[in-house]
Amino acid sequence: MTSKIAAVTGATGFLGTHLCERLLEDGWTVRALSRPTSDRGDLEDADLEWYTGDVFDTETLESMVTGTDAVFHLAGIGLWSAGPETVKRVNRDGTATVLSVCRTSEDVGRLVFTSTAGTRQPNETSPFADETDVAEPIGAYQSSKAEAEQLVDRYAATGGDAVTVHPTSVFGPGDESFTPQLLSMGLEPTMPAYLPGGLSIVGVSDVVDGIIAAYEKGGSGEHYILGGENLTYDRAVSRISDHLGGVPARIPVPAQAIHAAGPVAEAVGTVTDHQVFPFNRRMAKLATERLFYTSEKAKTELDYEYAPLEEHLPETVTWYREEFR
Ligand SMILES: NC(=O)c1ccc[n+]([C@@H]2O[C@H](COP(=O)([O-])OP(=O)(O)OC[C@H]3O[C@@H](n4cnc5c(N)ncnc54)[C@H](OP(=O)(O)O)[C@@H]3O)[C@@H](O)[C@H]2O)c1
Repeated sequence: MTSKIAAVTGATGFLGTHLCERLLEDGWTVRALSRPTSDRGDLEDADLEWYTGDVFDTETLESMVTGTDAVFHLAGIGLWSAGPETVKRVNRDGTATVLSVCRTSEDVGRLVFTSTAGTRQPNETSPFADETDVAEPIGAYQSSKAEAEQLVDRYAATGGDAVTVHPTSVFGPGDESFTPQLLSMGLEPTMPAYLPGGLSIVGVSDVVDGIIAAYEKGGSGEHYILGGENLTYDRAVSRISDHLGGVPARIPVPAQAIHAAGPVAEAVGTVTDHQVFPFNRRMAKLATERLFYTSEKAKTELDYEYAPLEEHLPETVTWYREEFR
């Protein structure tokens, strides 16, 4: 048990909720940022200190980060829920605001910034991307995260204490997007098709462990990929259905169909300012590739470990059935 104080942005989100719960279990005092419109969900009745505001509310941020041991900056937004301008503003400018407040406030602990593995990508020489495989960003989400990472690196290089973590595709209870999509492909007879390509699937509890380990053991200015098992969609879907006795999706969506949808999504996005998956042609191509990662650096330096998909299934499926049935 500890008597440390943490400030958490993005506390009301999927990952932030799990992080707050773990910090409380470990004895931390947790100061959590919540927007006036946020749904605090399971945290509503938890023993947290709430700070109401957004990532641009400097006064609230200042009172929240002053006198802390750690600042966990998770607030962020993707193209699935906002247009590119908002995505850039929240991910890049929001991070700039948090850093600037940390810099000018008194007695602020280490900042752990949650970016995405998407700023790194496999290439011809390394089929499993590591922290050095910096990729040209595709779309507003990746570019805003890449720019935010540079701001965090600069903060660390100029006297601040900051570490960046890069989760891959996070799986677990409370996720409204990736997790139900994957489970439905493994379980539901009404979901006949799975996606081509593959990805690194990591349980949310493993990512939370990795974030805390980055605070405890990471080097300032360093980056750590927090990944899990590298699985093709085909393999992930059959592992889920084998374990749970579901009806796996049997037909792969042809990669060409997704590639063809890219320009359509791009055109819709241009004329309506409403983003439609796969957002644009470069992202459409990315969605059909094998986006595999290695977490070797986190394993060596942070003692990071991840469990196989099956270990995360019982709790996640119980939640899924309650939410989606
Ligand atoms: N889930 C993944 O697979 C994954 C993978 C890699 C990286 N990440 C990163 O991890 C972080 C957390 O992801 P998540 O899956 O937990 O996302 P999430 O469920 O969508 O949660 C996002 C959080 O950010 C908050 N937020 C958004 N805009 C804000 C603003 N203007 N001011 C203050 N707070 C704001 C949200 O508040 P409200 O509750 O008010 O909306 C929410 O608490 C994000 O930065 C994401 O990019 C996630």
